[in-house]
Amino acid sequence: MLSEMKDHQSLMAALSENVLIVRMLLSVIFLPGASAGCGAITPVLFSTTPNFMEGLSGSCLQIPCSFNSTDPRYDITRPIYGVWLKATTAFNVTPSSVIFNSSKSVNIYQLEMIGNLTEKNCTTLFSDLNTSYTDRYFFRIESGPVRATACADPLQITVKDSPWSPSINISGGDLKEHQSVTITCSALTPCPHSPPELTWNLQQDSHRQTEKNTDGTFTTKIQENITLSDTHDGYIRCSARYPVNGGNKTAETAVTLSVSYAPRNTSASISPSGLVSAGSWVELNCSSRAKPPASFTWFWNSKHGTINVSVGQVYSFNVTEGGEFYCLATNDLGHQTSSVIRVSIKDNQVSGFTVHIILKILGIIMLYSTIILLECWFRFFKKPKMKTQEPTYVNSEMAKES
Ligand SMILES: *[C@@H]1O[C@H](CO)[C@@H](O)[C@H](O)[C@H]1NC(C)=O
Ligand SMILES: *[C@@H]1O[C@H](CO)[C@@H](O)[C@H](O)[C@H]1NC(C)=O
Ligand SMILES: *[C@@H]1O[C@H](CO)[C@@H](O)[C@H](O)[C@H]1NC(C)=O
Ligand SMILES: *[C@@H]1O[C@H](CO)[C@@H](O)[C@H](O)[C@H]1NC(C)=O
Ligand SMILES: *[C@@H]1O[C@H](CO)[C@@H](O)[C@H](O)[C@H]1NC(C)=O
Ligand SMILES: *[C@@H]1O[C@H](CO)[C@@H](O)[C@H](O)[C@H]1NC(C)=O
Ligand SMILES: *[C@@H]1O[C@H](CO)[C@@H](O)[C@H](O)[C@H]1NC(C)=O
Ligand SMILES: *[C@@H]1O[C@H](CO)[C@@H](O)[C@H](O)[C@H]1NC(C)=O
Ligand SMILES: *[C@@H]1O[C@H](CO)[C@@H](O)[C@H](O)[C@H]1NC(C)=O
Ligand SMILES: *[C@@H]1O[C@H](CO)[C@@H](O)[C@H](O)[C@H]1NC(C)=O
Ligand SMILES: *[C@@H]1O[C@H](CO)[C@@H](O)[C@H](O)[C@H]1NC(C)=O
Ligand SMILES: *[C@@H]1O[C@H](CO)[C@@H](O)[C@H](O)[C@H]1NC(C)=O
Repeated sequence: MLSEMKDHQSLMAALSENVLIVRMLLSVIFLPGASAGCGAITPVLFSTTPNFMEGLSGSCLQIPCSFNSTDPRYDITRPIYGVWLKATTAFNVTPSSVIFNSSKSVNIYQLEMIGNLTEKNCTTLFSDLNTSYTDRYFFRIESGPVRATACADPLQITVKDSPWSPSINISGGDLKEHQSVTITCSALTPCPHSPPELTWNLQQDSHRQTEKNTDGTFTTKIQENITLSDTHDGYIRCSARYPVNGGNKTAETAVTLSVSYAPRNTSASISPSGLVSAGSWVELNCSSRAKPPASFTWFWNSKHGTINVSVGQVYSFNVTEGGEFYCLATNDLGHQTSSVIRVSIKDNQVSGFTVHIILKILGIIMLYSTIILLECWFRFFKKPKMKTQEPTYVNSEMAKES
C-alpha cells in the first residue's frame, strides 16, 4: 500500500511537471466516444457500421457500412475515394495509418470496397483475416475538397483464432411429448461468402440458410419443426464448421432438452418367482420409464372384481390366496398398466396325496421285505444237516489254497 502510494505520488509529481501532457493523456484516456475521436472538431462525416465486429483468422469479414456527410461541399458527381484508417483515435493518424484507399493506391490488408460509394455504400470486405488485424478502424472519404474522417464512429475489429459456438434456440410450447416445437441452431457468419456448415443430432439433412440481420451482419442457421417424444429427452448438440484457409475450424454447443412424457415400458415382476406356499411373503415390483417419475398403484383381480390393494412401487404381502395382480404407473402426462402377473400357491392336497402314495409304497416294500426275511429264516433252519459235513471240505480247500 505504502509503496503504491509513493508510486502514485511520484507519478502525479512527474505529471504535474507538464500540465500539457496531463491534458493530452486525459483527452485520450478519459474522454468518451465522440469527443475522444473528434476532439474539438465537429464531425462532418458519419459512417454506420457495427461498433464491434469479430472475425476468424483465415476467413473473411464483411463490414456493412454506409455513410453520409454534412459537409456542404460534398458533391456526389465528383469521384469519391473511400479510405480505411487503422488508429486508436482519428487524432493520432499518420500516413502509415492508411491501410486502404479505394483508388487502389494503398491496400495493405487485401481489402475490397464492395459497396457503391456513389450510393453512400461503403461495405468493405477483408478477404483473409490475420489476428494482427485486431484494432480500431475509421472510415474516411476524399472527394474534391471534402476530406473527412468519420471520427465519431470507430469500428473495433477483433480477429480470433477459435470460432464461436453456435446457439440453440427452442421455441413454441411446453417441452412435453406430442408438443410441436421449433428448434434452431444459429451461428455468427462474419464471412457470408463461406458460411459455416451446421450439423446436429436431429435430422441430418436440415436446410441451411444464411440470413442478413438488421445491422447488415449475417447469421447462418438450420431449423426443424419437431413433434416431441420421449426419444428427444436428452441433449441437443450442434456444431459449426467454419471453412478457413487450408482447413476448417469447428465449435460445438450442447443444451439439455428435458421432455416430459407419460409412463412407458411399465412392467411388474414377482419375487420369489414360481410357485409360492400359502403363508409366505411375496414381493411385487413395478417399474416404468416416465418423466416426471411415475407413482404406482397395485390391483388384484379378485373374485369380487378388481381391488386397489396397494400404493407404491413395491407391494409385499403374506399370500393367503393366489390370483392375478397388475400395477398402474401414473404421472401428470398419463398412465400405463403392466401386464398381469399370476401368484400361484403350491397345492397342499396334491402334496398330501403324494405322501400317502409314498407311505403305501413303503408299506408294500416292508411287507415284501418281511416275507423275504421269513423265507431266509426257514431255509437257515433246514440247512444245518448239510452244514455239519461242509466244515471239513471248506477247511481242506482253505488248506490247499494256503
Ligand atoms: C447521418 O447519419 C447520422 C447517423 O447515422 C445521423 O445522425 C445524421 O442525421 C445523418 N445526417 C444526414 C444529413 O443524413
Ligand atoms: C487516395 O487516392 C486518391 C486518388 O489516388 C488520392 O487523391 C488520395 O490522396 C488518396 N488518399 C490517401 C489518404 O491515401
Ligand atoms: C451495400 O453493398 C452491399 C454489397 O454490394 C450490399 O450487400 C448491401 O445491400 C448494400 N447496402 C445498401 C444499404 O444498399
Ligand atoms: C453505383 O451507383 C451509381 C448510382 O446508382 C451507378 O450509376 C453506378 O453505375 C454504380 N456503380 C457500380 C460500379 O455499380
Ligand atoms: C499475419 O500478418 C503478419 C503481419 O502482416 C505476418 O507477419 C504474419 O505472418 C501473418 N500471419 C499469418 C498466419 O498469415
Ligand atoms: C428464440 O427464438 C424466439 C423466436 O424466434 C425469440 O423470441 C427468442 O428470443 C429466442 N430465444 C433465444 C434465447 O435466443
Ligand atoms: C416451422 O413452422 C413454422 C410455422 O410454425 C414455419 O414458418 C417454418 O417454415 C417451419 N420450418 C420448417 C423447417 O419446416
Ligand atoms: C472442411 O469441411 C468440409 C465440409 O464442410 C469438408 O468437405 C472438407 O473436407 C473439410 N476440409 C478439411 C481440410 O478438413
Ligand atoms: C419400451 O417400449 C417401447 C415402445 O413404447 C419399445 O419400443 C421398447 O423396445 C421398450 N423398451 C424396453 C427396454 O422394453
Ligand atoms: C402369514 O399369515 C399367516 C396367517 O395369518 C401366519 O400364520 C404366517 O405366519 C404369516 N407368515 C409370515 C411370513 O408372516
Ligand atoms: C424394483 O425393480 C427396479 C427395476 O427393475 C429395481 O431398480 C428396484 O431395485 C426393484 N426394487 C426392489 C425393492 O426390488
Ligand atoms: C388406491 O387406493 C389409495 C388409498 O387406498 C388411493 O389413495 C388411490 O387413489 C387409489 N388409486 C386408484 C387408482 O384408485
